[in-house]
This record gives sequence, structure tokens and C-alpha cells, in this order.
Amino acid sequence: MIRLAGNALITGAGLGIGRATTLAYAKAGAAGIAIADVNIERLKAVAAEAKKIATNKSFEVVPVHTDVTNEESVRNMVETTVKSLGRIDYACNIAGMAVQKNTLACNVTKEEWDFTNNVNVNGVLFCQREELKAMMKQDLESWEGRDGFRGSIVNMSSVAGFFAAHSAITYIAGKHAVIGMSRTAALDHAPDGIRVNSVCPGPVGTEMLTRMSPTADFPGSTMQKRIGTPEEIADVVVFLGSPMASYVTGASWIVDGGYCAF
Ligand SMILES: NC(=O)c1ccc[n+]([C@@H]2O[C@H](COP(=O)([O-])OP(=O)(O)OC[C@H]3O[C@@H](n4cnc5c(N)ncnc54)[C@H](O)[C@@H]3O)[C@@H](O)[C@H]2O)c1
Repeated sequence: MIRLAGNALITGAGLGIGRATTLAYAKAGAAGIAIADVNIERLKAVAAEAKKIATNKSFEVVPVHTDVTNEESVRNMVETTVKSLGRIDYACNIAGMAVQKNTLACNVTKEEWDFTNNVNVNGVLFCQREELKAMMKQDLESWEGRDGFRGSIVNMSSVAGFFAAHSAITYIAGKHAVIGMSRTAALDHAPDGIRVNSVCPGPVGTEMLTRMSPTADFPGSTMQKRIGTPEEIADVVVFLGSPMASYVTGASWIVDGGYCAF
């Protein structure tokens, strides 16, 4: 298991992959975690779970009610994290929305676009921007003889960032955008000692998967003949954010049980 020092900030932490990532950071030894979501009740429940399993004796968890589509709310999320924890070492932008409904490309409406991409595109853009600003004010740190870490960001894309899917143009476009935003930020901020990567899961057993495609045969479309667990995605997020991945930036890591290679 990865052993980490430092602090994490995780959006979409109330449920699914964001919740699992919070618990993975708590287990891995993070000193502090700020968790953000629109659903404050779920955040409180995840905070309690994280405290129970945290391995760092001085562990602190800070729930921050946040709407990632709102710039002021995102600024408050980052300011609160820095005030409470001092520094953001690992930022994970995981909050996301499925399609509002399945629509052919010829019929898509602006309302459907905004429903999905106010969160999936604008949310990642705003969160990443404010996290980068905060990280650029932080001192450079070293780890195991490797120098020059100011912080790292992992954005949640999807295999939908590489391929088309029927009647899901808003989601597909948004997840392609997350890969582009991550690569550009990685290029812009490599000289600052900040790494930015995206994670691209295949089908994962969360509420979103059921909402998005209730009848699809996802297990059958993977090499491993099963859907992934949120914990299997969380472990890759934690590794990519950690100094163990110090030579990984601008990458889009597929975590899909062989879905794309099949
Ligand atoms: N589940 C999958 O199969 C799958 C596959 C590939 C990628 N993803 C991506 O992983 C991420 C997490 O998905 P999940 O399956 O855990 O979804 P989920 O629906 O289980 O959880 C999403 C979380 O995001 C929060 N959220 C939604 N809008 C928000 C907003 N405006 N501000 C703050 N928080 C908000 C929700 O409250 C919820 O807690 C998403 O970006 C999704 O696109 C999921």
C-alpha cells in the first residue's frame, strides 16, 4: 500500500469514486483531507468513515459544502482548504454528472449540454484553476531524493474521453474536454513542479452507472468480465497523485478491466 504524507482535496467526495478516494487517502496516511460536494449530509457521513480508518495520528478531515459549477463556491473551497490544512498536495477533481437523458446528436439541447457540462467541464476548469493558483504559492518539496514537488492534480475523465457512445454526446464531449484541460495544465505548469493527469475509468459500480445506462451489458464488454469497484479507481488516483508517479504528467490513465483494448 502507498504511504503518503501531506494533504488532499477531493471533489464529489460524497458518493461513489470520490468517497472511495477519500477513504483511500485516509488509509494511506494523509495528514488532512478537505472533502467537497453539493450534498453536505453525505459529506458528513464520509468524514466520519474516514476518521475511523485514518492511519495518521493527527488526521483531520474538513467537509466543505461546494458547488463546482459556481466560481465563488470553488474559490471558497480552495481558500477553506488552505486555511484549515495549510497546503494542498493532492487535488482530485472527481465530481461529475451523467447525461440528463439519452439524445441523438441531431436533437441535443443547450439545457442537456449545461446539465452535464456545467459540472464535467466548467467544474473541472474552475477547480483546477483555483487549485493551481494555490499550489503555485506553496514551497517546493522533496521525496526520497526526488526534488521539485509543489503539488499534483488528478482530474476524472472516462473511457468516454477516448470513444463515442450512442446518444451521449454531452458526456462524451465533456470527458474528451477533461483530458484536454489536464494535458494543457500539465504543459503550462510542469515548470512550476505541478503534475496534472487524468484517470479514465471504464464501467464502475456506482449510482451514476445505473442512472446512465440501466440496461447495458457492461461486464460483458470488459476482458475481466466484470465492472470495476470505486476502490479500484481510487487506488490509481492516489498513486498518480503521489510522488511515486513523479515522472507521470499529462497522462490519461485508462482503468477499465480491458474494456478499451477489447
Ligand atoms: N461510475 C462510472 O462507471 C464512471 C466511469 C467513468 C468515469 N466516471 C466519472 O467518475 C466521477 C465520479 O462518478 P461516480 O460514478 O462516483 O458518480 P456518483 O454519481 O456516484 O458521484 C458523483 C458525486 O459528485 C457530486 N456532485 C455532482 N454535482 C456536483 C456539483 N455541482 N458540485 C459538487 N459535487 C457535485 C454528487 O453529489 C456525488 O456525490 C465522475 O466524474 C464520472 O463521470 C464514472
